[in-house]
Amino acid sequence: MELHHIKEHLRLWQMNQLCARRVVRKHNTEQFGELTFCTGQVKHLKEIQALHLRLFKVPMLNWLVWLYRFRSPQLVSLALNQEGKVVGYECFMINESEVSDNILHSVYVGVDEAYQGKGVATALRSYSIRTYDFGNLTALSTVAGTHDIKALRCAQKAGYAIEKASLKPPGHYLVRHLTLGR
Ligand SMILES: CC(C)(COP(=O)(O)OP(=O)(O)OC[C@H]1O[C@@H](n2cnc3c(N)ncnc32)[C@H](O)[C@@H]1OP(=O)(O)O)[C@@H](O)C(=O)NCCC(=O)NCCS
Repeated sequence: MELHHIKEHLRLWQMNQLCARRVVRKHNTEQFGELTFCTGQVKHLKEIQALHLRLFKVPMLNWLVWLYRFRSPQLVSLALNQEGKVVGYECFMINESEVSDNILHSVYVGVDEAYQGKGVATALRSYSIRTYDFGNLTALSTVAGTHDIKALRCAQKAGYAIEKASLKPPGHYLVRHLTLGR
């Protein structure tokens, strides 16, 4: 990796670390059939990375892995099966363009192949929304790739709405507005 990329990732990591510290979130667990939804814990990070590599065919960005080493409770949601194994995850980060508006960005959602097509991703996204609602964020955002119908549908079904076209990466930029806590 080139030096300017390393510097850029370091800068993003530092900004995310600082901003994520201030994110207010509920940490209750919820049941979805046999699955348990909960906020992230660093002990599950290796499993998330392995599932991510399988689903996306590329490793999770290194600076994000370092971010989740410290900020999983604030930025990660998990679906665990009855054995406590990670079968679904949603990861958030802070985009520079959204930081002043207090918007958190859902960067990855993934569900183990054996559990796909059963509403898990939609339910996990809805769980994340409930944990951040009535906190200090104004909205959650996400991008669904132009041809990624599954990602688009599960975001829309969880309550996100398309607000504009996204250039990088190309796709739909979706937002789920939140209610601010008192
Ligand atoms: C995208 C992904 C998270 C969806 O997980 P899931 O738990 O199967 O999603 P859901 O069951 O909640 O389904 C969401 C919507 O997608 C639809 N869907 C699921 N599988 C589909 C398929 N093979 N073709 C078309 N639509 C499909 C569902 O029907 C549902 O929409 P609908 O009820 O309006 O039809 C999962 O396929 C995955 O992990 N893919 C690899 C990683 C990825 O690409 N993530 C998204 C980009 S960040």
